[in-house]
Amino acid sequence: MKWTTRVTETFGLRYPIIQGGLAYLAYAELASAVSNAGGLGQITAMSLPSPEALKEEIRKVRSMTDQPFGVNFAIGQHGRPFEQMVEAALEEGVSIMSVTGGNPAPFFHELKGTDVQTLVLVAAKRQAEKAEELGADAVMVVGHEGGGHLGRADTSTLVLVPEVVDAISIPVIASGGIGDGRGWMAAHALGAEGIEMGTRFIATKECVHASPAYIEALLNSTIDSTVVIKQSLGTPARALSNEWTDRILQIEEEKGTYEALKSYISGEANRRFIYDGIASEGYGWAGQIAGRIDDVPSVQQLFDRMVEEATLVRKKWGE
Ligand SMILES: Cc1cc2nc3c(=O)[nH]c(=O)nc-3n(C[C@H](O)[C@H](O)[C@H](O)COP(=O)(O)O)c2cc1C
Repeated sequence: MKWTTRVTETFGLRYPIIQGGLAYLAYAELASAVSNAGGLGQITAMSLPSPEALKEEIRKVRSMTDQPFGVNFAIGQHGRPFEQMVEAALEEGVSIMSVTGGNPAPFFHELKGTDVQTLVLVAAKRQAEKAEELGADAVMVVGHEGGGHLGRADTSTLVLVPEVVDAISIPVIASGGIGDGRGWMAAHALGAEGIEMGTRFIATKECVHASPAYIEALLNSTIDSTVVIKQSLGTPARALSNEWTDRILQIEEEKGTYEALKSYISGEANRRFIYDGIASEGYGWAGQIAGRIDDVPSVQQLFDRMVEEATLVRKKWGE
């Protein structure tokens, strides 16, 4: 069966499956496993401490795969300039980069005159149109089911994807709430030409940095085990519900300021849970699809299963 779309053709992939940027989790092991399995693996630049560290991580990916891979830049969320990191990726000859987290115009400015292929993660039609105007090769559109940072409107993937497909002419990749071959095919039925998954990839053998407690929490989740925090700051993001997010939501309910929330929503608090497994003192991003995850396969096993499930769907469709 053929899986060719404009996404596979543009980025040189076997399957139109993108591993989303995963702050503090997407390093060479995961990215190379996804690329070796036929998708697009990505490392997350802003989780690395310096341009030198990014260069080393890029070299490590190259030592583990000869397939295409990407570098992801979440430009608005880490309080430090991304330009030097883009520069480092360019110096290493990275040919695919993705961006999210703010106005992508300065990112495209950095890439002017290069032939880097670009993906922009958006959460609204207007942002997708802007990405197309800026010259993106594809957009990933994340609905409100998704893990991590979301759009301000609570629009689901099912509604948002066709809206964006109808509004722009570059390929659309659906993101948010997808974790198996059925979700993949559903996205294609909506007009998407690929999928991006975040949460599903955390519960894989190659996501080596995730603490056993984080994985356990994902496996024990039901579909209503996540909450959206930071709504009051205008930067909503979906995390696993725990004591720590209860406290965040309480502060938000009491109209707490950014100052009051700062230490609760910090990267340190994130790492205390995702690396050290301390649920009473930290949080971890996850989408609603966590409730549908009940094993920790290797990335290759996950791909094999998804292709099998998607094949069944296509056979039902008479393909
Ligand atoms: C733990 C975690 C961290 C994330 N960090 C980033 C990031 O640094 N950059 C990015 O582009 N997206 C990030 N995202 C969003 C994902 O790339 C993707 O859009 C999202 O996970 C899709 O929804 P799903 O979790 O339902 O698959 C993150 C998501 C999660 C779950």
